Amino acid sequence: MASSSFTEGEVYQESFNSRLYLETYYSSPLGCPEEGNYLGFLLTNLFNAFSSGSVKGQKLIDIGTGPCLHQLLVACEWFEEIIVSDYTDRNRLEIEKWIRNDPDCFDWSAIGKFICEIEGNRVSWTEKQEKLRQRIKRVLKCDVTSSNPLHPVCVEPADCLMTSLCLEAASKDQETYYNAVKNISTLLKPGGSLIMNVMLNQTFFRVGDRKFSYLAFSKEFLTKVLNENDYIIQKLEILHGPDRATNTHSDYESIVFLVAQKQI
Ligand SMILES: C[S@@+](CC[C@H](N)C(=O)[O-])C[C@H]1O[C@@H](n2cnc3c(N)ncnc32)[C@H](O)[C@@H]1O
Repeated sequence: MASSSFTEGEVYQESFNSRLYLETYYSSPLGCPEEGNYLGFLLTNLFNAFSSGSVKGQKLIDIGTGPCLHQLLVACEWFEEIIVSDYTDRNRLEIEKWIRNDPDCFDWSAIGKFICEIEGNRVSWTEKQEKLRQRIKRVLKCDVTSSNPLHPVCVEPADCLMTSLCLEAASKDQETYYNAVKNISTLLKPGGSLIMNVMLNQTFFRVGDRKFSYLAFSKEFLTKVLNENDYIIQKLEILHGPDRATNTHSDYESIVFLVAQKQI
């Protein structure tokens, strides 16, 4: 059943505070302290997935990027062509500002340097920034509830599709979620990799005093949706979240990092 307090895309468009979201959740590698070590967990798993050699190719599409670059600061070492996408204009503008290196763009250096360390300092933070700026080829409007999420733009399917905390924010119920997975899968080549970062059993998150809905479900539901959409799950890692009683930012129970292959 649809939640009565579902946050529609238009609410994001009108009142999602991109800068406050970044300051709250992405100011440091520790993320938001009340939320536990989700960033360290995510970035380490992402690096391990790419360096294992099982996720490879030339082109990567990130779905529902928000104003965020942390995942792409890892991916840029492995993919030459990166497309980022989000529903909300302000989020895409924040990313465009960073690409242009505008004086007031968000400072990703703390997280960027942490990623360089995870990678064994093979590249410097300066080199990494430059690489990502060159490798992001397009910043596109996206709606995961649409059968072509990047409408009106049509792109060739990618070798890797990545999405973090987006489909659950964009889906009012389980059927919408199932369809969102189906919709974004049109952007992935058969045999390609889907990388997902998903909170389990979460109903909301906050940006300042504004509350946004999040579709709550179990690991079993998530794996069922992926299997029914012709994915084979290759890796699934779980980190348990902090005590819900002390976390005022969201109510997630645990976080999943997964890699799945779209069947050929
Ligand atoms: C919780 S944020 C996640 C941002 C980022 N990926 C991260 O990991 O922090 C949810 C994002 O979903 C986007 N969103 C909401 N509805 C959407 C829709 N229908 N299609 C695509 N993106 C949507 C919002 O604009 C927002 O950037």
